[in-house]
Amino acid sequence: MTNRSKMEFLIWKLVAEARSFETSTILLLRTCHLRSVVSRYSTAAALQEPISAPVKVKYTQLFINGQFVDSASGKKFTTCDPRTGNVIAEVAEGDAEDINRAVGAARRAFDEGPWPKMTAYERSNILLKFADLLDQHTEEIAALETWDNGKPYEQAAKVELPMCSRIMRYYAGWTDKIHGLTAPADGPYHVQTLHEPIGVAGQIIPWNFPLLMFAWKIGPALATGNTIVMKTAEQTPLTALYAAKLLQEAGLPEGVLNVVSGYGPTAGAALASHMDVDKLAFTGSTETGKLVLGMAAESNLKPVTLELGGKSPFIVCKDADVDKAVELAHFALFFNQGQCCCAGSRTYVHESVYDEFVAKAKARAIQRVVGDPFRKDIEQGPQIDSEQFEKVMGYIKSGISSGATLETGGERYGSEGFYIQPTVFSNVKEDMLIAQDEIFGPVQSILKFNDLQDVIRRANATHYGLAAGVFTQDIDTANYLTRALRVGTVWVNCFDIFDAAIPFGGYKMSGQGREKGIYSLMNYLQIKAVVTPLNNPAWL
Ligand code: NAI
Ligand code: MG
Repeated sequence: MTNRSKMEFLIWKLVAEARSFETSTILLLRTCHLRSVVSRYSTAAALQEPISAPVKVKYTQLFINGQFVDSASGKKFTTCDPRTGNVIAEVAEGDAEDINRAVGAARRAFDEGPWPKMTAYERSNILLKFADLLDQHTEEIAALETWDNGKPYEQAAKVELPMCSRIMRYYAGWTDKIHGLTAPADGPYHVQTLHEPIGVAGQIIPWNFPLLMFAWKIGPALATGNTIVMKTAEQTPLTALYAAKLLQEAGLPEGVLNVVSGYGPTAGAALASHMDVDKLAFTGSTETGKLVLGMAAESNLKPVTLELGGKSPFIVCKDADVDKAVELAHFALFFNQGQCCCAGSRTYVHESVYDEFVAKAKARAIQRVVGDPFRKDIEQGPQIDSEQFEKVMGYIKSGISSGATLETGGERYGSEGFYIQPTVFSNVKEDMLIAQDEIFGPVQSILKFNDLQDVIRRANATHYGLAAGVFTQDIDTANYLTRALRVGTVWVNCFDIFDAAIPFGGYKMSGQGREKGIYSLMNYLQIKAVVTPLNNPAWL
């Protein structure tokens, strides 16, 4: 077979396999699932073929008070293409002074601007219009995202962008459903609670899902009437700037959303410790999460929500359909180049199916299609940057030297950019670094267990508690495990199912608070109790 016909055969085989798998909704990277997600989420016109060449970068300045502006220092930094390491664009580098300007703009917009005076219905319409604009610009934004981040274009355009607009529509629906209560009091008093916006929200986001994290953060904050200063990740500043412009086009008043590109220890720290920021939301590493929590405490005690790291167990029980479990465990780990906070990075397999599972997991990893993320058939693009590339390669070396069995992969893929071969380790033991640390790369670690109590104890023996996958056909086993695992999300016979209404967040050192769904609204609200005497003459 020629290379081309081999590739066509492979794609045909993937599609055929995926079809036989129709009941599962998790196979985001499989063609059939992409179609189902698109048809569920997207109201945009049918997507065209992927854009094979990157688009033009339109916005590189900071977005403050409704204007694109240079940083106060005039400094710029570069953002790079993970396929090659080449520079995509020079971007204005915000620091403490720019954060100060942005917080000032957000403060004025909150205290004096038209935003707080708008009706909930007007705010809803702006969010809906923004969602429509996201749909209309999906291809251009997705191409920008792929270029800046390295994720497959198909994933960006057909899964993540539609999820962003879906999130905005979900929160648009909440704006006019936020209201307080009346409460009984022991006396002649009328007691009511008002749910008021908290004020200026500082939001710091990472690079693994740049626009999706932007949407998760701004949705509940805007729906509840707050203003925002967003600090994007230095690796991926481009799509948030584009989206800020679309929000303005949708009618968001000036100063309500400000986007500052820049580094963590300068711009990020200035935001976390700012005295005029009323609330902080952070997604990123547990290490940096601890830092920003400390900064918030030492400055003005602003409340903080944190979405941090994970080392999520994926448990394959003895009654599991091994083929499905292999596919699901593969997806749970390798999706988004392994750069997911909730990646199923400890694959626990029952001893009775362990050998079969390992052989099939290895075969599936070998089959994984790695390459230029703009190509339509690609499952895996490059890691985000050289720092992450080196970190992941370091963990691979550590896995080898600690005695785990390298089943496949373990090397750089290709000769340029930050690609890593899909890597599978078997015979992984709990005390190995690869079983404990968040690797954040395409490295699957397969461990063996013998009974449920054993796997529960080991699955919970980590400081993290973000998510878990459970694979079994026995409802009692599923119920036992879901209640025993100390994590914020348990996916049973599925993985990485995200929906605007499903709350997401961690137990233990994986975070504080929940994003998405009804739960996230409370992060952005203050409760005011209003007490009024009831001067009813009959009572006097
Ligand atoms: P990070 O947590 O340092 O960065 C996330 C965000 O925090 C970025 O916007 C960054 O600029 C900002 N930041 C960094 N230092 C800061 C500081 N001192 N004050 C305020 N803001 C600060 O994560 P990084 O360095 O990009 O990646 C390191 C590791 O973190 C990864 O290898 C991965 O294990 C984990 N990570 C987890 C993510 C998640 O979704 N939970 C996302 C990104 C990284
Ligand atoms: Mg960092």
